[in-house]
Amino acid sequence: MENVTPVSLPRIGEKAPAFKAVTTQGDINFPDQYAGSWVILFSHPADFTPVCTSEFMTFASMESKFAEVNCKLVGLSVDGLYSHIAWLRTIKEKIEYRGMKSVEVKFPLIEDITMDVAKKYGMIQPGESNTKAVRAVFIIDAKGIIRTIIYYPLSLGRNFEELYRAVVALQTADAFSIATPADWQPGDDVIVPTAGSCGVAKERMDGKEEMHCYDWFFCTKKLDKEKVFSTIKKK
Ligand code: BEZ
Repeated sequence: MENVTPVSLPRIGEKAPAFKAVTTQGDINFPDQYAGSWVILFSHPADFTPVCTSEFMTFASMESKFAEVNCKLVGLSVDGLYSHIAWLRTIKEKIEYRGMKSVEVKFPLIEDITMDVAKKYGMIQPGESNTKAVRAVFIIDAKGIIRTIIYYPLSLGRNFEELYRAVVALQTADAFSIATPADWQPGDDVIVPTAGSCGVAKERMDGKEEMHCYDWFFCTKKLDKEKVFSTIKKK
C-alpha cells in the first residue's frame, strides 16, 4: 500500500489554527489580530504565475466590497517575501487585465517558505503538489471560528463573487437565524428553521405567518436585500 502521511486538517466550527508570520504588510498574529472582523485566509500556488495573477487582481479590486461587510483578506504562498513584493509591484506597474489596471494589493501576503502555516491549514496536498499550496479558502468569523473551507486545484481559478456571497450568506444566517437555499443571493427568500410539529407547520401553511411552505419540512420567508445589508453592515 502507498505510504501516506496522516495529516490533521482544520474543520468547520473549530477555532482557526494560530500562527505568527511575516507578510508584505508586516508581522501577523493570526487569528487574534483579526478578532472582531471576519477574515478570508487564502493560499495560492506561486507568485509570478498567470492564474494567481488574475486572482490577486480580482480579489484586490474587491477588497473594499469585502471591507463593507467587515471582512478582511489575507493571502499566503510558500514563496519568500522578496518574491511577493516583486510580484505585487509587477502587477501594479505592468499588468492590465479585464479592465483592471494599476491594481495595488493592500492586504497582507504571508511568506511561508517553511510551509509551516500551509501544512497547518492542509494547503499542501501531495496528490496535487508537494512544493506548492493548493488554492485554499478559509472563511473565519469575528470570533476566530472557521465557517467555510474550500479547496481548489492548481489549474482552477476561484470565483470571488461566490466567496463574497458566502460571507454575506453566513452573516445573514447568523443575524436572522435562517438558512440560505441553493444559489441564494441577497434579496431572495430565505429558509426558516423546520417546524417542530405538524401543528406549527399547518399554521404556517394556513398563512398565519409570512411564510411559504412547500411542505412541512421546507418553509421560506422574504428577507429584503436592504434589511440584510443594513443589519450585517452594523455588526
Ligand atoms: C497559475 O497560477 O497559473 C498556476 C500556478 C501553479 C500551477 C498551475 C498554474
